[in-house]
Amino acid sequence: MTPTSRCRATARMVAVIGVVSLVAACSGNGGATGSGADGYPNRNITFVVPFSAGGPTDTVTRMIAEPMAAQLGGKIVVRNVEGAGGTVGAGEVAQAEPDGLTVLMHHIGMSTAPALYEKLGYQPLKDFETVGLVTEVPMTIVARKDFPPATLSDLVAYVKANANKVTLANAGIGAASHLCGLLFQTAAGVKLQEVPYQGTGPALTDLVGGQVDFMCDQTTNTSGQISAGKVKAYAVTTPARVKSLPDLPTTAEAGLPQLQVSVWHGLYVPAGTPPEVVRKLSEALKVALAEPRVVEQMAKLGTAPVAPEAATPQAHRTKLEEQLGAWAKVIADAGVKAS
Ligand code: MLT
Repeated sequence: MTPTSRCRATARMVAVIGVVSLVAACSGNGGATGSGADGYPNRNITFVVPFSAGGPTDTVTRMIAEPMAAQLGGKIVVRNVEGAGGTVGAGEVAQAEPDGLTVLMHHIGMSTAPALYEKLGYQPLKDFETVGLVTEVPMTIVARKDFPPATLSDLVAYVKANANKVTLANAGIGAASHLCGLLFQTAAGVKLQEVPYQGTGPALTDLVGGQVDFMCDQTTNTSGQISAGKVKAYAVTTPARVKSLPDLPTTAEAGLPQLQVSVWHGLYVPAGTPPEVVRKLSEALKVALAEPRVVEQMAKLGTAPVAPEAATPQAHRTKLEEQLGAWAKVIADAGVKAS
């Protein structure tokens, strides 16, 4: 084949390939091609955390973002969109392009919001695809260091006697800290003054500083302060003690067995995101959760990755459906509504 005919042949070939990718690109899959996942991610992925930076949900998100980015071959940027117990951030992702480039990390709050907010602006099962569960974090009841009650039953007696004076911090209506606070008040038979924050990161800072009296928060946020003796800790809200906090009794051991709650977390993308993209994210999540570094970091903070079969879209959807039903009843019985 002469040089000129060879380059003509090559030119023809380049032309053919060029056209194929052009057609695929024009097939309206927004940055992705063919089955939707080819070429995904073609830009930075944004992980939206609906609470403050430095808090428990932010901490878990940043733990898995890096290994997931490595697996996906792209960059993940974490963005905190705070407000209204996590519903502002969730609402923003529900409206985002269904191209897999905007991902929401949310927790039990996704299942409580519909029962609490009249005008929510999204429906968890309709407006989102579930990608997979991430972890289920125990909660701890903690107080400022100089708060008088010594034990959980002392705390119940104290808040009963001082209900109009005691302040209970949380991260807004529908947040995990709010729900746990609600369960505590129901169990103790009291109504306390609640102090809302945009996340339990800043709430814990104020608790250590003595500005608020007590709160219920995830071990992924409180473990360090408990181990350092910077806060008083009464109990953990799970049936078994947490390995990283061996001296902290369970609520059952401490006399309030009805106060059981842990905070399941999962990843979501807007409804309509190509199934192949969801599958790619779920696969990357599984790999990230198996990383020894992630396992170790989670263990240090009192939690663990979910089992691989739970880090799947279907298992996550099943959990969400079950929790939506469960919390609707608890919230209706408690007669609580976001104003
Ligand atoms: C946070 O990250 O601040 C928490 O998850 C808030 C909460 O739900 O209590």
